[in-house]
Amino acid sequence: MTGSGRVTVVEVGPRDGLQNERGFVPTGVKVAFVEALADAGLPVVETTAFVSPRAIPQLADSAEVFSRVRKKPGVRYPVLVPNERGLARALAAGAREISLFTAATDTFNLRNTNATIEESFARFAPVLLRAKAESLRVRGYVSTVFGCPYEGRVDPAKAVAVAVRLYEAGCEEVSLGDTIGVAVPTQVADVVGRLREAGVPVDRIALHMHDTRGTALANVVEGLREGVRVFDSSAGGLGGCPYAPGAAGNLATEDLLYLLHGMGYETGADLSRVARASRILAETTGRLPASRVFAALRGSSERG
Ligand code: HMG
Ligand code: MG
Repeated sequence: MTGSGRVTVVEVGPRDGLQNERGFVPTGVKVAFVEALADAGLPVVETTAFVSPRAIPQLADSAEVFSRVRKKPGVRYPVLVPNERGLARALAAGAREISLFTAATDTFNLRNTNATIEESFARFAPVLLRAKAESLRVRGYVSTVFGCPYEGRVDPAKAVAVAVRLYEAGCEEVSLGDTIGVAVPTQVADVVGRLREAGVPVDRIALHMHDTRGTALANVVEGLREGVRVFDSSAGGLGGCPYAPGAAGNLATEDLLYLLHGMGYETGADLSRVARASRILAETTGRLPASRVFAALRGSSERG
């Protein structure tokens, strides 16, 4: 399979990656990381989350991070918002694009946000109204689409119903989260196919893969085959969710770009500059990025 055309890579490292870091990454490093990712040509950089600092202390400086980031024209900087309070904080910081999040399973959603799926939609209603009034772009995430750390196997019909509901509520894009990295390509084809049958256009669907079991790139290829053209990833393979035990990092942006560019897709991003952004963070955390392509680039530069 050879590809052509444009694929949008949504960089989630500064949010999904940093929310799971053990230590607090200094504000200045976060700002430099976001700016380096935008300078690398990534079109969308999810910058931070306006969630409760008690739930996610790692991102307690979200307002300062968002305000300090030098915004590059043409780059989108969405932020995660759980409720009206989060939206008010995001707007005050200058955000113009938000991401709401719920899940396909109640147990995970309760642990993550202290709300059932139903309750999360009640929280979203006023957020969506205000977002519309403010002309914000809204994305909706569904977590645990392919498996749940608490409930195990997830009925695809249930995951699809939640995604359809987000779309019908006004989310311009719905990102399907493999929160704990259990999905295999047949599941991706099944869920994307069901969503299309339910009336969600494929250009409104994104895939958000964590790479716990090494299946993330295979799932991306299946997504491409199904017509999906938006994929989430994190520089260096950072990430996870503190409320999803056992979840490893997101699919690494370097690995995703290597695959997409090699297959003939355009992303606008420069792989070696993304690797440079990953290095900014690695110098602070003291850990090498999990990305395979990062390791290969590093190996070849050390040899050559
Ligand atoms: P709650 O305790 O039910 O909320 O938490 P509450 O409304 O009762 O408020 C409790 C306290 O939090 C109050 O403070 C509020 O003011 C404060 P107190 O009066 O006790 O001092 N508060 C806030 N503070 C700042 N910003 C806010 C905010 N809201 C309330 N927005 C809540 C509910 C949703 C707020 C909480 O559970 C929370 O913030 N959860 C976020 C968890 C999270 O960020 N998880 C990771 C992101 S999701 C993810 O990673 C999955 C994804 O990547 C896709 C995938 O991989 O599957 C997207
Ligand atoms: Mg995630």
